[in-house]
Amino acid sequence: MSESTFCGPVLLRGERVELRPFSIDDAAALIEIIRAGEDFLPDNFPRRLDAERLAWWLNTGVHQPQRSGAAIHLAVLDRESGAFVGTIGLYRVDWTQLTCEVGYGTRPRARRRGYATEALRLISRWALRDCGLHRIELRAATIESVRVAEKAGYVCEGVARGGEREEGVNRDQFVFSLLAADLDRSEAGPPRLVGIGVGPGDPELVTAKAVRILREADVVLVPVMALDEEGRAESVVRAYTGKAERVVFALNDRGGVTGKRAAAWDGAAERVVRAFEEGAHTVAFATIGDPNVYSTFTYLAQSVRERRADVAVETVPGITAMQDLAARSGTVLTEGAESLALVPLTAGVSGFRAALETGDTVVAYKVGSVAAEVVEVLKDAGRLEEAVYGARLGLAGEDVRPAREITGAVPYLSTLIVPGRRTTRGGKL
Ligand SMILES: C[S@@+](CC[C@H](N)C(=O)[O-])C[C@H]1O[C@@H](n2cnc3c(N)ncnc32)[C@H](O)[C@@H]1O
Repeated sequence: MSESTFCGPVLLRGERVELRPFSIDDAAALIEIIRAGEDFLPDNFPRRLDAERLAWWLNTGVHQPQRSGAAIHLAVLDRESGAFVGTIGLYRVDWTQLTCEVGYGTRPRARRRGYATEALRLISRWALRDCGLHRIELRAATIESVRVAEKAGYVCEGVARGGEREEGVNRDQFVFSLLAADLDRSEAGPPRLVGIGVGPGDPELVTAKAVRILREADVVLVPVMALDEEGRAESVVRAYTGKAERVVFALNDRGGVTGKRAAAWDGAAERVVRAFEEGAHTVAFATIGDPNVYSTFTYLAQSVRERRADVAVETVPGITAMQDLAARSGTVLTEGAESLALVPLTAGVSGFRAALETGDTVVAYKVGSVAAEVVEVLKDAGRLEEAVYGARLGLAGEDVRPAREITGAVPYLSTLIVPGRRTTRGGKL
């Protein structure tokens, strides 16, 4: 692509505006503008109402620099009404350096409606994508113009002191620029942190979406207890991508927000932020089960947002341990009008006991240290017989059995389902 791109018919269409070269048909609108003293037109535009010069400019003057590739002036029209709302142009086009400047003006009556921003986005994209230019410079002297530049994604480089002479005075100009690479970044959207649920442990229980994002992500982080130990999510992630990077989390720490935990969240958040600073667009964080169910991802996302408010946080659902245990043990989680309570046992069994008294199906997570007490509570409630237990689901050493057969200590990855009491088919409808 080169200056020849300027020679073809140019028509740039956005949602609300249309950009096209001037023609003699614009004469009437321009005469009205000149008469009204609206001054927003390009510098080389005839300022005095001289029909002959205007006709020359519309027929020839405006097109000559376009033909030589030195500049292009376009009229900005409202797409719906066809009304002429402003002008925009590229000038000082240097095809050796692949640089140019951009200038725009909006009719006073059409200001503050987003026309200039949309026109600037359109011409910038066209210049950097279709014409093959590398850099567009924009100089802004008013706050309105600075806002337009920022909204269109231009980056402020500094101030050109006394950069433009206006009414006998040299005024400061904010210098902005947009590079083709900035456009790539802005079109890719804001940096993304994606919490990916990878299921309880069986690599087959991972969604197609999770696999796609794990493979597409620039950086994939997996939480581990120690850098030299494989993480629970990591073994699943490794079935699909080799790029898992370990970040240490105090996964088993107890007692609220301990110093160890807070330091781990901060450290992981710093790693994510660094990845974005180094150019990553998508950072994936794999977590067992679902990222919105008792997952470290929640704290990581908060810590990253505190540091980078522009990061978009998303999650990809994963199959939870309770769903996997239901499937592996042949247990229906809920039917009819039954309720389902999910109770973590880290803080003891009282919440579990209360849920058994008031609810139908009760699922307990983090059974680990209180397994013996859990069995006693189930006995007292008369619900031990139907309860099922599953440990290390989908992983080596998987153990699924009736809860009455629990003996001694159980691993951290242990889940319990106490199904609602059912007597007849559809009895809970
Ligand atoms: C921090 S929570 C994570 C929950 C997970 N985000 C989910 O959606 O299932 C950890 C608890 O999930 C349960 N869990 C997770 N993976 C498991 C597995 N493979 N086997 C048994 N229980 C599991 C256990 O109750 C464990 O204590």
